[in-house]
Amino acid sequence: MKPSFSCLFFFLLLCFLHCVASSTARQRDALNKFYFNNGAERSSSSSWASSLLSISGLESKVYDNSGLKEGDKVVLLPGQPEGVHFDQYAGYVTVDRANGRALFYYFAEAVENSGSKPIVLWLNGGPGCSSLGYGAMEELGPFRVMSDGKTLYRNPYAWNEVANILFLESPAGVGFSYSNTTSDYSKSGDHRTATDALVFLVNWFERFPEYKGRDFFITGESYAGHYIGNAVINKETDSKGTFDYFWTHALIADETIHTIHKFCNFSPDASPTAPKCDRAVDEANLAVYELDVYNIYAPLCFSSGVTPTPKSPSIENFDPCTSNYVDAYLNNLEVQNALHANVTKLNYTWSGCSQVIPSWSDQPSTMLPIIHELLSNGIRILKYRCIDFVVHVYRCASMIALRFLHNICHTIKILGDFDGVVPVASTRYSLEKLKLGVKAPWRAWMLNSEVGGYTVVYDHNLTFATVRGAGHEVPSYQPARALEMIKSFLQGLHLPTV
Ligand SMILES: *[C@@H]1O[C@H](CO)[C@@H](O)[C@H](O)[C@H]1NC(C)=O
Ligand SMILES: *[C@@H]1O[C@H](CO)[C@@H](O)[C@H](O)[C@H]1NC(C)=O
Ligand SMILES: *[C@@H]1O[C@H](CO)[C@@H](O)[C@H](O)[C@H]1NC(C)=O
Ligand SMILES: *[C@@H]1O[C@H](CO)[C@@H](O)[C@H](O)[C@H]1NC(C)=O
Repeated sequence: MKPSFSCLFFFLLLCFLHCVASSTARQRDALNKFYFNNGAERSSSSSWASSLLSISGLESKVYDNSGLKEGDKVVLLPGQPEGVHFDQYAGYVTVDRANGRALFYYFAEAVENSGSKPIVLWLNGGPGCSSLGYGAMEELGPFRVMSDGKTLYRNPYAWNEVANILFLESPAGVGFSYSNTTSDYSKSGDHRTATDALVFLVNWFERFPEYKGRDFFITGESYAGHYIGNAVINKETDSKGTFDYFWTHALIADETIHTIHKFCNFSPDASPTAPKCDRAVDEANLAVYELDVYNIYAPLCFSSGVTPTPKSPSIENFDPCTSNYVDAYLNNLEVQNALHANVTKLNYTWSGCSQVIPSWSDQPSTMLPIIHELLSNGIRILKYRCIDFVVHVYRCASMIALRFLHNICHTIKILGDFDGVVPVASTRYSLEKLKLGVKAPWRAWMLNSEVGGYTVVYDHNLTFATVRGAGHEVPSYQPARALEMIKSFLQGLHLPTV
């Protein structure tokens, strides 16, 4: 079932690329005109949107969004600090009227000159985890929640310092995004996520037409993790990389790694594993059990809930209990009203990762050929993870539109070197398999006279970069370094050397 999904999806994707990019010159012109004219031809925009969606048979899903923008404006978030001079919007975009399916977004305009800054779409992984709860409130958004779960403080390293940031809770069933047709939840998968995201974007641009001509970037993080458990996508390189990382970071015994090397074969076509291998793998997993594998050096959270009065917060030292505070904040009715969220009074609470999506229906077993395909097609994207590099690309089919917005193709994958879930070693093994030529050799990149991490540039303008001292959620642990990276990337610059 898994392989057939990949085939079907990639057929669709390639067909989409093909139809739009090569065979229909007129279509491509229309797209360029649409984006580069900065909304100058508003009247034709709906027909543009229709024709984009018609390629995927989705044209009936371009809805009337006129006049909805003002209603989405967030006047004031409860507990918001003084001196907020950028606009925020939040609300629902219908992606399927028949079933009553709508996706929730939060949009933070740039702090300065929002009218000339690009739009960055941010997607969290899971699958099934919230970009509002994680991305916006714990990582790169303008605010973080204090330990009382009620008050907010500014994140000086928020990405809206350099761009307009659009956080999308996707798919339906994640966060505030919902469907009135409960059976939709059991149909969740990469395909549905991708088409809904595409429909969302087209309709969102109808609601915010002034953003139509803007440079548009897709960024996101993770796929393996909370919800499905460790969805191992490149099983062979991931497993080998993970155990090697554990050993080189002094987390497991010499005997354990020797046994793994000797008795384990992680390749997809390997015969059933040897009992000795199983035992060593169990030992390794047990050894890291008491750590936060998402950041092997991070402190753990030992309390639940919120504190009666807010503790003095620190952006530099990420509070491991942050998700408790975010949970409390987003489940506050007043906050939901301010965000225009939960208007249909859902019968479950908001949670960081979905509790209503029962299963994920489709998931390709390996990403490597797809990565190769996409690199050859030159898509500009900022990615945090190798493992999920493409998942976001096609979970959000809008990626496909991206291709026409930029003639320069550049991809960057960023990894925190404290991350034991998607460890640097795994990524290196996967990159090795892609057999890409090295364009600019491995070197340190710098911020404030310190090594921010290391970077290497491969063919196809694929940059791989590490962030020193960051766990899985890079902007949580190294906010200044993460901001520096996105800033360079948006400007099309190499990471700084001084
Ligand atoms: C879902 O149903 C509610 C109640 O009937 C309705 O108000 C809402 O608009 C519906 N959602 C969508 C996306 O159609
Ligand atoms: C919540 O509502 C849906 C339909 O809207 C229903 O199928 C489901 O059983 C309800 N869940 C609970 C816990 O009441
Ligand atoms: C939506 O609102 C209802 C009623 O206030 C509340 O019980 C529920 O927890 C909320 N759900 C979400 C997902 O915010
Ligand atoms: C790589 O980027 C440069 C400019 O930075 C561009 O000229 C070139 O076409 C890109 N190469 C590919 C394969 O996308």
